[in-house]
Amino acid sequence: MKSTSFISFSAFVCAVTAFVIPQARDTTSTIDDTVVLNYALTLEYLEAAFYSGALSNFSQDDFVNDGLPEWSRGRFEQIAAHEQAHVQLLSGALGANATQACNYSFPYTSPSSFTALSQLLEGVGVSAYAGAAQYISNANYLTTAAVILSTEARHAAWVAGPVNKENAWSGPFDTPLGLSVVYTLAAQFITSCPSSNPSLPVTAFPTLSFTDASPGQSSNITADGVTTDGQFVAFFTGLSTIFVEVENGQVVVPNKTMMYAVLTNSNSTADDSTITAGVAVLQFPFNSDGDSSTSSGDSSMNVIS
Ligand SMILES: *[C@@H]1O[C@H](CO)[C@@H](O)[C@H](O)[C@H]1NC(C)=O
Ligand SMILES: *[C@@H]1O[C@H](CO)[C@@H](O)[C@H](O)[C@H]1NC(C)=O
Ligand SMILES: *[C@@H]1O[C@H](CO)[C@@H](O)[C@H](O)[C@H]1NC(C)=O
Ligand SMILES: *[C@@H]1O[C@H](CO)[C@@H](O)[C@H](O)[C@H]1NC(C)=O
Ligand SMILES: *[C@@H]1O[C@H](CO)[C@@H](O)[C@H](O)[C@H]1NC(C)=O
Ligand SMILES: *[C@@H]1O[C@H](CO)[C@@H](O)[C@H](O)[C@H]1NC(C)=O
Repeated sequence: MKSTSFISFSAFVCAVTAFVIPQARDTTSTIDDTVVLNYALTLEYLEAAFYSGALSNFSQDDFVNDGLPEWSRGRFEQIAAHEQAHVQLLSGALGANATQACNYSFPYTSPSSFTALSQLLEGVGVSAYAGAAQYISNANYLTTAAVILSTEARHAAWVAGPVNKENAWSGPFDTPLGLSVVYTLAAQFITSCPSSNPSLPVTAFPTLSFTDASPGQSSNITADGVTTDGQFVAFFTGLSTIFVEVENGQVVVPNKTMMYAVLTNSNSTADDSTITAGVAVLQFPFNSDGDSSTSSGDSSMNVIS
């Protein structure tokens, strides 16, 4: 029973929870402030290396010749400095407990593929801070995380809007993500880390990929070494998680503009104990009437899924 109509889609929706925090719950109970700050620092190191590497690879002429606004590279210099400042602040707070930078490899090949990946990474950064806030007990650290989060959200909106000519937001709520979901997205860019780094309580899941995904339409999915039929795809979107059953290797994608998707063996819980593959990022442009029905096959999804 596969159909692309909205009515059939409704039948596949097993559970929708709106306005419930947290989602993508982490199963471990060992997440204290040191762990959360090191998790944040891990992401900030990655972002700092991402921007400094791209800026050392691409000149002002490279940006302009690739069709980017002539004022954009200077703004990316500012963003690179912000990420470095985040690294310094978090390292300072952690003192001797601070994790160290790793080596990274990013798949961009041009200034415009760099700005596409920047949009994705800034969005993941926002979701990472939103999802981890619940684990912070020290009030000063919470304030620090809040102001870093809001700055990452400004980066995300600026890169998406003026630079990439896409939507600066996806809806009234960003999507909080669990530590392992974020780490799975980050891990594909990390090539090696100092062995002395403290380990984080996270899992990197096998890759989940969508083929030709469109909002409200059926899409083929594959998961590395994992049988998909009979499992569910949990779509994290804003404060909701939508579970859709996989049948014949296909899943009906909810009619939303921004989703992080994971494969789960549960129809009602998406956490480290039930996620079997992920994470695919589904982002669909929408026009000023909020209509995304003309968009399909978002390319950024496959860059990172
Ligand atoms: C979800 O899974 C439980 C346990 O397998 C099952 O009893 C229930 O019917 C399922 N709910 C839906 C809506 O599929
Ligand atoms: C960018 O430059 C760094 C050195 O700063 C290099 O290691 C990396 O391979 C370059 N990446 C690309 C995509 O050109
Ligand atoms: C290092 O981490 C431990 C365990 O969380 C904590 O007790 C200690 O205060 C931390 N030290 C610093 C310098 O933050
Ligand atoms: C990073 O790569 C360099 C060069 O390959 C290597 O010497 C260094 O040990 C690596 N650092 C880490 C933290 O893995
Ligand atoms: C998705 O929802 C929008 C309104 O939010 C609607 O215009 C569009 O027809 C819907 N598309 C599908 C495939 O259900
Ligand atoms: C989806 O998979 C079916 C076979 O299961 C295949 O016929 C179809 O072409 C695939 N669609 C896409 C877009 O890859």
